[in-house]
Amino acid sequence: METMEAIKGRRSIRQYKTTPVDDKTVELVLEAARWAPSWANRQCWRFVVVRDSKIKAELAGTTYSQTNQARESLKNAPVVIVACGELGKAGFSRDTGQPSTDKGEYWYMFDVGLATQNLVLEAYSLGLGTVIVGSFDAKTVAAILGVAEGFCVVAMTPLGYPDQDPGPRPRKELAEIVYHDKFGG
Ligand SMILES: Cc1cc2nc3c(=O)[nH]c(=O)nc-3n(C[C@H](O)[C@H](O)[C@H](O)COP(=O)(O)O)c2cc1C
Repeated sequence: METMEAIKGRRSIRQYKTTPVDDKTVELVLEAARWAPSWANRQCWRFVVVRDSKIKAELAGTTYSQTNQARESLKNAPVVIVACGELGKAGFSRDTGQPSTDKGEYWYMFDVGLATQNLVLEAYSLGLGTVIVGSFDAKTVAAILGVAEGFCVVAMTPLGYPDQDPGPRPRKELAEIVYHDKFGG
């Protein structure tokens, strides 16, 4: 599949078939994540693949709002992938051990985001659906999964075969988001 076809064809999917997703397929989407670029190639990302129904229900219970559209998806999809980042790696100087930029410690969010985007695009190219979920209590998710000290849960996505075919959400025109030579110009 062409890159642009995957970028434009992917949708957030919130309803999934019960059809299982085999380990080989899960490995393919994780392989795509593995090849994302990262700060000084530190690869601070970690992924927890959840298939256990009880744990998926617990994860669904961590969304801040009961009306979060992805809440049921986390419970019902055959797989949930939880993306975590190691703290103190992305954005940190190897020499001083201090943050290198004015973004402080938060570059791990960027790197985990890049890996997650690779993952969702590869999932789409394999006929699978995903929806990135960010509105949840990350500390509770960390406790549920036993995430180690020094790592932070960033985002989750259900993974499964789509049981819906939503149209595209609108995007801003390039003219609204692209400037030339100077910001706002
Ligand atoms: C960082 C991030 C957090 C998100 N969190 C949620 C969420 O908590 N619940 C949800 O239903 N969708 C969530 N989404 C999905 C967005 O609503 C969706 O990507 C956006 O509306 C565009 O739709 P599309 O993905 O189908 O193009 C999130 C997306 C991103 C990138």
